[in-house]
Amino acid sequence: MSFSKDFLWGAATAAYQIEGAYKEAGKGESIWDMFCRKEGAIKEGHDGKKACDHYNRIDEDIALMKSLGIKAYRLSLSWPRILPNGVGEVNHAGLDFYSDLIDKLIAAGIEPIITLYHWDLPKTLFMKGGWLNRNIAEDFANYAKICVEAFADRVEKWITLNEPQCFVFLGHSAGVHAPGLELPLKECLQAGHHALLAHGKAAIAMREVSHKIKIACAPMGLFKLPASENSEDIEAARKASFHVDGDHGFWTSWWYDPIYLGHYPQQGWKEFGDNVPQVEEGDMEIISSEMDFLATNFYMGDEVKAEGDSWVLSPEDPSIAKTAFDWKVTPSLLYWGPRFLYERYGKEIMITENGFSQHDVIAEDGAVHDQNRILYTKQYLSHLQRAVEENVPVTGYMHWSLMDNFEWGEGYTQRFGLTYINYETGERTIKDSGYWYRDLIDSNGALL
Ligand code: NOJ
Repeated sequence: MSFSKDFLWGAATAAYQIEGAYKEAGKGESIWDMFCRKEGAIKEGHDGKKACDHYNRIDEDIALMKSLGIKAYRLSLSWPRILPNGVGEVNHAGLDFYSDLIDKLIAAGIEPIITLYHWDLPKTLFMKGGWLNRNIAEDFANYAKICVEAFADRVEKWITLNEPQCFVFLGHSAGVHAPGLELPLKECLQAGHHALLAHGKAAIAMREVSHKIKIACAPMGLFKLPASENSEDIEAARKASFHVDGDHGFWTSWWYDPIYLGHYPQQGWKEFGDNVPQVEEGDMEIISSEMDFLATNFYMGDEVKAEGDSWVLSPEDPSIAKTAFDWKVTPSLLYWGPRFLYERYGKEIMITENGFSQHDVIAEDGAVHDQNRILYTKQYLSHLQRAVEENVPVTGYMHWSLMDNFEWGEGYTQRFGLTYINYETGERTIKDSGYWYRDLIDSNGALL
């Protein structure tokens, strides 16, 4: 058996993408509520006001999870649902909602894994500068502490930030995610530093409340994949994976090195010259506060081959499969990604996201025959299996996503779910991939 018997097979979602109830029971506004109102910001003018209406359907959704047999569910908490102004008065109805959800998950035998920040910043904090204001680190730590005080008795695993690359760069440079800013690199790197500092301060505050919890951060894992398995190509891919270049923010080491090694990657620091962020004394110690594991979201990678001491990108194979998002299907990412991460950081790894989008439809027979998603998942997981067999300590896999949901700037046009959502009626239909995943979990991966 390659997967240990306690391997956590799960599925993931995020608050703004599924909950809806955008101003129910005392919830404050988030930057996504705000951004969705901006003309042309979201495809087809969609927004997350209702989303999957998960807020009003938790019993049904937990029953759904139970029928899929998932062992863990990665959810995020909405900061403005708990603290409508980001700081100050707690909205007890918000805490009660999550408390009830957590109790019901546990009663169903499903382990809740909490992400504290999956992009829905309270608007009030944005009005004070958001991630550009250093004080946000304190505010985030305060929020994290409140959550851990409320739930650490029942929740062991906590993720501080989801994909800082995306919320910093897509939100502050490309302007395609909330809050929709288009700032120069220097300011983005400063916002990124504040995000790292927020992670570190939160981790310290959380541990003051509980010593039992396990904490990680979940950057996006973009890796380079070797064109062949000769040692030169592998080394080229390893080097290229942690290299920092360009001003797009999608680097791996820029986010992981500070947290797990205690410093920014030297090569990246040099590369950015005058644009490097201002780092105050003591920041790096805070940012590198000891973590229990490492979490990463994996979708795709580029292939490289060795060229002398360096590497070149392989020309794109014109026949490579792509998702509806036009993302390349590169299954070996789930082997090389965890392997490279473990070699560099030496921590246990949890795959906090991996999944496939397409434009699913309900067929005449009432089912969703998403063979492509099954194929994708099977191929990626086969590579993960190889990693596990080679003793890379991967402890869990959270498929993105439990259900179709609000895909940020793409609105509802990209479907990632194991479950189909009819956004008119709210009806849930388990897709063929959901049934396949259920059987896979039941076999503990033996069906791969
Ligand atoms: C990254 C994000 O964490 C999640 O919110 C998003 O929906 C998926 N990946 C797919 O893009």
